[in-house]
Amino acid sequence: MDKGTHDKFKAFTVKFFETNKITDSYKDVQWGSTESQNIRFQYLCKLFEEDQTKEITLLDVGCGLGHLYDFILEKNYDNIRYSGLDIQRDFIEFAKKKHPDGNFMNKSLFELETDQQYDYLVASGTFSVTVPNEDMKKFLEESVEKMFTLCNKGIAFNLLTTKMPSEYIGTTETHFDPVEILDMCFKLTNRINVYHSYKPNDFTILMYK
Ligand SMILES: C[S@@+](CC[C@H](N)C(=O)[O-])C[C@H]1O[C@@H](n2cnc3c(N)ncnc32)[C@H](O)[C@@H]1O
Repeated sequence: MDKGTHDKFKAFTVKFFETNKITDSYKDVQWGSTESQNIRFQYLCKLFEEDQTKEITLLDVGCGLGHLYDFILEKNYDNIRYSGLDIQRDFIEFAKKKHPDGNFMNKSLFELETDQQYDYLVASGTFSVTVPNEDMKKFLEESVEKMFTLCNKGIAFNLLTTKMPSEYIGTTETHFDPVEILDMCFKLTNRINVYHSYKPNDFTILMYK
């Protein structure tokens, strides 16, 4: 992604998630409920839950307030070394105070160096905001390629789906066609799982090296 396009995506997204007061709620990160946030985490965590390795490094891309880290601690996944990344400075400052042991970075995915690798990367809701007059599918493709480059073992991300009644599809968020997205992911690996049944408007893709 060229610098001009990156800066436009970044500025638009930062503005979109700006909030006056952080309350550590699902509302701050623009989800509909704690339940809808958690069911997404549940499917993303399928990426690594059978990995019995003593220590697993995980990067949460677009970590918001670190709610995935809360979820991981609650579920007692005790082999995860968690890092979170978000372009929203206030979210990162808040997450750092909540979890002084977590590694939280105020950066965009595209500002990460490729020499720092993680076993797994996940992204929940990170690719949903529509940036006007931009090619969202290209942005997604470049994001998935970057995440896949940074992982040792695999990545997972969720998206809003087009396979739902069209009257529910709004304009501020981008819905993706799961068949087109799968085709895109198969360019990188054949080791893919897809979940499209846990919510009416969402799907999750797991990709392994
Ligand atoms: C819908 S929120 C979800 C937050 C968190 N994943 C959760 O589920 O609670 C999406 C987050 O992704 C962040 N984000 C979007 N694009 C990003 C990028 N390219 N790099 C880092 N963070 C990004 C936004 O700032 C926002 O905090």
